[in-house]
Amino acid sequence: MYEQVSHSLLNEILDKLNPEIKKRDLRHFYTRLGANFYAIYSLFHQLYGHRDDFKAQALRLVETLARQYIARSGLLKKTDIEREKDYGWFLGQQWAGMALYCDGFAKNLKGLESKVSYFQELGINLLHIMPILACPQGASDGGYAVSNFREINARAGTLDDLASLSRTLRQRGILLVLDVVLNHSSNEHEWAQKARAGDQTYQDYYYIFDNREMPDLYEETMPEVFPETAPGNFTWDEGMGKWVMTVFNHYQWDLNYNNPAVFIEMLDIVLFWANRGADVIRLDAVAFLWKKIGTICQNEREAHLVLQLMKDCCQVTAPGVLFIAEAIVAPVEVIKYFGEDAVIAKECEIAYNATYMALLWDAVATKNAKLLNQGIQSLPNKLDRATWLNYLRGHDDIGLGFDDMDILRAGYDPKEHRRFIIEYFTGAYGDSPAKGMKFGSNPKTGDARISGSLASLVGLEAALLTGNADEIEKSVKLILLLHSMILSFGGIPLLYYGDEIGTTNNYGYRDDASKASDNRWLHRPTMDWAKAALRNQHGTVEQQIFDGLKKMIAVRKGIPAFADYNNRELIGVENPHLFVFLRTAPQQPTNAILVVGNLDASPQILDMNTLGNRGHLQYRTMKDLCSGESPTLSNGQLALEPYQFYWLSIQ
Ligand code: GLC
Repeated sequence: MYEQVSHSLLNEILDKLNPEIKKRDLRHFYTRLGANFYAIYSLFHQLYGHRDDFKAQALRLVETLARQYIARSGLLKKTDIEREKDYGWFLGQQWAGMALYCDGFAKNLKGLESKVSYFQELGINLLHIMPILACPQGASDGGYAVSNFREINARAGTLDDLASLSRTLRQRGILLVLDVVLNHSSNEHEWAQKARAGDQTYQDYYYIFDNREMPDLYEETMPEVFPETAPGNFTWDEGMGKWVMTVFNHYQWDLNYNNPAVFIEMLDIVLFWANRGADVIRLDAVAFLWKKIGTICQNEREAHLVLQLMKDCCQVTAPGVLFIAEAIVAPVEVIKYFGEDAVIAKECEIAYNATYMALLWDAVATKNAKLLNQGIQSLPNKLDRATWLNYLRGHDDIGLGFDDMDILRAGYDPKEHRRFIIEYFTGAYGDSPAKGMKFGSNPKTGDARISGSLASLVGLEAALLTGNADEIEKSVKLILLLHSMILSFGGIPLLYYGDEIGTTNNYGYRDDASKASDNRWLHRPTMDWAKAALRNQHGTVEQQIFDGLKKMIAVRKGIPAFADYNNRELIGVENPHLFVFLRTAPQQPTNAILVVGNLDASPQILDMNTLGNRGHLQYRTMKDLCSGESPTLSNGQLALEPYQFYWLSIQ
């Protein structure tokens, strides 16, 4: 078993050992291997123990770990040791992230490096650069169809450019997050090409079948991810004369983790990027890692075992590196990607909080917090040493992943409510100002998701078109309100590039044949730096949003109660338009922050008398940490303007 505290202590003891023993330069590696080997062996055996070559594969696994440990730089090894000592280092309130496409943001890695001061200006200290690995020019799913897992896409730059960027980020205290697409490769990857040429070793890397017999069995229960553009889960490959499993697009071949060689290859790749300076690795589409006939082929127990094994192996070679689970699944399922039946995370330390994201969008459409309150109550507590990635927008669509039972409890009919949300965000409902588009409509199930940029979904695009100053102001306030909710909730807030200056939909994708059929490109902008420059001009929309966010990020970093230790209490209030929760610093229970957000476009009142005294919190002194002002209460009534929020320090 691996346990952080005892491991740190063990390292300290080893430091004091006799110099003759110390000469062995794989000391930390052997210690960690010893500490983890029981878990590694058990997991590897559960997955592959039935194979004749089990021992040979286990030997390859350990050799892979050792080789990558030897390749790991002294600097990164030092960071590993520091992070082992300070093992909750990523739970603090000091982190604020941004996700971006390298080409969309600054053309390439060199351009990105020249923009690092922009992140510092805003207060961003965690940077997720979306896939930059080699991929075909056209059919690449935005880089998520990788044709070489160890090479940088020539359009983005070189490994040296990444090394330089990684150094610069490290010097400035910014964490680097890179993607590893575990679930599939491009059909142009060497493995796929060899499989196509008839090489059995590489056909075993994928799910490949001679006829429709097995694919038909799988299809009975497998849902479709892209029903409009890539229906079905198998693609006929003319060259090979066989069917190949392609859950996402037809050019993304699913890797087969029943084969230990695939696991070892992908582990080696994860460690390769860890050694190139990634502090955090985003593991793409983890819910899909294991396929089993008769199931939906998502969230399978073995997918979790694969991730646990990946984590335990990474702990041996690069223990300072964290994993993000990209599992956009139901709350009860997503929580398992931290690790089930564990106290501290044993799979991925970080997971996307898609539930909160979708619920916040529900609140935007309904202008109330009914479902938001309900859904957050159903979100299970996370483990210690695990945290959420809280976000509003990203490069993907918005799925309405909330629970039907919660929709019912909030007083709506699930089907009707989902239809309303889609209509609202596509601008089809009443006077909705939203300018989103339907994504992934499935006529068989009636499901649909939403594309569109944050600014366009909240109405800023429409307001700018008409020039209505009041509507522009409201949209800006709503953008800030939504961010205030992800910055205070607990977890790492992850902003999406362009949102900090109110970037609206990018309709240009329609002119590019390789993108036109995928409207997620609507919200994958090319950064408009002339627009970004307007952040320096007082009174512009860009300045108001940028400075508002900058202020909030700076204030967040100084509030210990915003660190993530399951220290949030949801407070049900009578006024349905308000979302209210209390954050308490574990070390200072007398100093709490009351977060209040008004989701309505009209002024609202919070009756503080109904909050009840929580221990010693008397709501006697209250100060809004963002504005620095103390709101005045009349008869215990706290007034909120449309889309106003408070971070009230109370004693
Ligand atoms: C993840 C990515 C998404 C991609 C899919 C397949 O969900 O976020 O953009 O289409 O994986 O790689």
